[in-house]
Formats: sequence, C-alpha cells, structure tokens
Amino acid sequence: PSVKGKVEFQEVSFSYEKEGTTVAGLNFSVKEGETVALVGPTGAGKTTVVNLLSRFYDADKGQILIDGHDIQKVKRSSLRSHMAFVLQDSFLFEGTIFENIRYGRLDATDEEVIKAAKLANADSFIKKLSKGYSTVLSQEGRGISQGQKQLLSIARAILADPSLLILDEATSSIDTITEMKIQEALQRLMKGRTSFVIAHRLNTIQKADQILVLHDGGILEKGTHEELLVNKGFYHSLYHS
Ligand code: GTP
Ligand code: MG
Repeated sequence: PSVKGKVEFQEVSFSYEKEGTTVAGLNFSVKEGETVALVGPTGAGKTTVVNLLSRFYDADKGQILIDGHDIQKVKRSSLRSHMAFVLQDSFLFEGTIFENIRYGRLDATDEEVIKAAKLANADSFIKKLSKGYSTVLSQEGRGISQGQKQLLSIARAILADPSLLILDEATSSIDTITEMKIQEALQRLMKGRTSFVIAHRLNTIQKADQILVLHDGGILEKGTHEELLVNKGFYHSLYHS
C-alpha cells in the first residue's frame, strides 16, 4: 500500500470544549507495523487519541504525522481510506452479509469476500445461517451474537487491507470459543499493520510493541510491558492491584 503507517504525535493538545484541555502535549511515535496499546482509567483520553488520529476531531495544537505528512493537510476521506476500525459496537447496516463485509472494499468479488471471511474465522458461522452470505442483517445484527458481529467487522477490515488499524477491544463477555476465534483473526489482521488498540485484555497489552499509559489527558508512562514493570510506576501498580 502507498501508506506505510509510521505515526507521530508531536505536542498534540485538544479540547472538546472551548475552555480547558482534554489531552495536552501528547508526544509519541509508532513505527510502521507496530501495535500500540492505549491503556488508562476511564476519561484518560484513549478514545480521544484515536478520534484525533482519524480526524473525527482536529488537534488544537501540535501535529499528527503519518509517514511524515501532517494529517490536517490530507482529505479526511483519503486519510480514512487507509484505516479500518474494529469497534466494540461494530457497525452493521441493513443488507446481506456479502454487502456488510464488502463495505470494506466495494469492488471486491464474492470470492474475495469469502476469502476474507475465512481469514476472519467468520465463514463457518455464516455458512450455518439459512441463507449463508445472502442472509439479510438488520442494523442491530439481530439473530447473531456479539462475538459474531466482531468476526464480521474483522472480515470487513481484512478485506479493506488498511495500513492503519484502530481497534477498541470488547469488554463484554464473549464465549471462550468465539473469543479464541476473534483473537486468532485479529492476529492475522494486525500482522504488518500499524495498530492502535484501546486495550482491555492483559494478553493484548503484554504483547504490544508499545504501551501508552494515559492519565488525565497526558501520557504518564510509555514502554513495553517489561519496561513498565521495571519502572514500578502507575502501570506496575495497575498490574499488581
Ligand atoms: P473510557 O472510554 O471511558 O475508558 O475513557 P477514554 O480514555 O476513552 O476517555 P475519552 O478520550 O473518551 O475522554 C477524555 C475526556 O474527554 C473525558 O473527560 C471525557 O468526559 C471528555 N469527552 C470525551 N468525549 C467528549 C465529547 O464528545 N464532548 C465533550 N465535551 N467531552 C468529551
Ligand atoms: Mg473510550
């Protein structure tokens, strides 16, 4: 792909309101292909970081660079064409499973959709539905489980083949077998792409190339799991609490 996915935040500050700051002076850089885990208590700024990266909001101060280019100088549509989102409430629309997965890349053939679904471990449950890939889904995804919705959104992202991936890990309980399928599919999806994960699972956090510990809109600590444990700071206290 044309975008390699190196990401830099340079002194990035932002507020949702006119007054005050939500995140302030964020500095970090991510090499292409790395996985970054965003951790920290509620309200720390994790979602805000990915909102800024995807330009759902623009930074008030500082710069965000992708492959050295200021994202504010890139059209939102072109920026997002290099990104895929796998969110907790994966968004489905009323349409067939074919159409819902193809949303990742509108020119994909049926064979390509099925191939992506297989890589996402979604093919086996889809085939068991009465109309298979032609089953019509409702916006709420009635009749399929939370975990199956996640598998569909992973299939969509695999098909899109983005350079940057934004993942909000599910907190809801998903049965163990589906959870294993999701983890395996995510590993395939994340391999070789820069991934920002709002991480809730210890396993994901431990494996990340870099952990950003956010607190009150700032980066309190950053490093790998091992590094942060050695530091005996906030992360260490979270881990041992
Ligand atoms: P959790 O998702 O709860 O774990 O928190 P988070 O780390 O994702 O925090 P987030 O980035 O959503 O929020 C950071 C701060 O910005 C918090 O104080 C929020 O109340 C505030 N905030 C988030 N979204 C909005 C918004 O749309 N409008 C306003 N005014 N404030 C917001
Ligand atoms: Mg959040």
